[in-house]
Amino acid sequence: MKTIAIGLMTGTSADGIDGVVLEIGEGSFSIRATETLPFKEHMKEAIREISALRIRDRTDAAELDMDLGNLHLEVALKLISKLGPESVNVIGMHGQTVHHSPNTDPPFSIQLGNGQRVAEATGVPVVTDFRASDIAAGGQGAPLAPAFHQAAFSRPGENRAIVNIGGIANITLLPSDSRNNVIGFDSGPGNTLMDGWARKHYSKPFDRNGNIARGGRIQYELLDMLLQDSYLERCPPKSTGLERFNHGWLENRLQAFGKHCTDSDILATLTEFTARTICNDLNHLKPEITTVVLCGGGVHNRLLVELITDKTTARVTDSISGGIDPQWVEASAFAWIADRTLRGLTSTIPSVTGANQPCIAGIVHYPGNRTKHKPAT
Ligand SMILES: Nc1ncnc2c1ncn2[C@@H]1O[C@H](COP(=O)(O)OP(=O)(O)O)[C@@H](O)[C@H]1O
Ligand SMILES: [Mg+2]
Repeated sequence: MKTIAIGLMTGTSADGIDGVVLEIGEGSFSIRATETLPFKEHMKEAIREISALRIRDRTDAAELDMDLGNLHLEVALKLISKLGPESVNVIGMHGQTVHHSPNTDPPFSIQLGNGQRVAEATGVPVVTDFRASDIAAGGQGAPLAPAFHQAAFSRPGENRAIVNIGGIANITLLPSDSRNNVIGFDSGPGNTLMDGWARKHYSKPFDRNGNIARGGRIQYELLDMLLQDSYLERCPPKSTGLERFNHGWLENRLQAFGKHCTDSDILATLTEFTARTICNDLNHLKPEITTVVLCGGGVHNRLLVELITDKTTARVTDSISGGIDPQWVEASAFAWIADRTLRGLTSTIPSVTGANQPCIAGIVHYPGNRTKHKPAT
């Protein structure tokens, strides 16, 4: 039986919404349409403000929730218009993470983007809050893409690592022997520290292709200080976010470093730092990996990819080799998970998140008029 699912993803980079239409068959899937909507500067600012816990009152968060809901709706409607008469069975909408805190008491993870708004306006069930059930089962609620990575990218006879370089970077180990557990965790910062520096010192959203960093010199003493963060030493399961790796985190270390260096030296050091954190983890994975599959926007930072390729003995490729463009892997994952959720199937992996059981991920928002879409039985 064929299902048509839309996936909408906006990651920690808060650069915009990536959307895909995924056609899912028995053990197969293909991308039928894609759409992206970059956030305007005021929206990025609002997301950063709320993520930094500068919420003035509750209406700020509610307003952003609705604004984000409307932007997600815009992407969903564009995707639906590309499909013709076929109807969409489900929309998986990750939402914008503004706080991820799986290790506090109580643990929580907040994503904004009003799912009910999208359900009402499209007439399609919308799945949101993908992380809550796993956190309730004692897990990190992250990363969630590994089950999809396994479905899309595992190959018999190969120990593969999928590395998604978004704002935060996450790694999935897909062992060739299916009796071994899939492992997945956030390695640490992906683009976020580099993006923050490019924004502050060059008024650019990111260091295009790594060109600015290429002109700087790595400051090894500073690099060592960055590498001492205790998160990097911790064993999985683990997940992190901008609550930890943010501009304040970097400023504290720069102050302690105290030496003068240029803005491009710092960008060069941050790029090397990001590559090292990823490769230190890749090189310690057991079983040893033979192939690294890169995805996420960091794939476009040529310097970063060169550094990663130099630091690992495994063959490095990107997700196009597995049939999915690096930009659409995460959105496809949430389309795929949403379809499973609507059918009552689990899609979280306890060996990844540390939860006490696999969970059905997400909350389903049904449109008020349910005659068109009945819940799956
Ligand atoms: N040409 C490029 N050069 C360098 N970095 C890029 C380029 N294109 C995209 N990026 C990086 O990718 C990020 C967006 O990646 P994405 O996978 O959408 O992350 P997230 O899931 O966190 O939103 C940008 O913020 C930027 O850091
Ligand atoms: Mg993004």
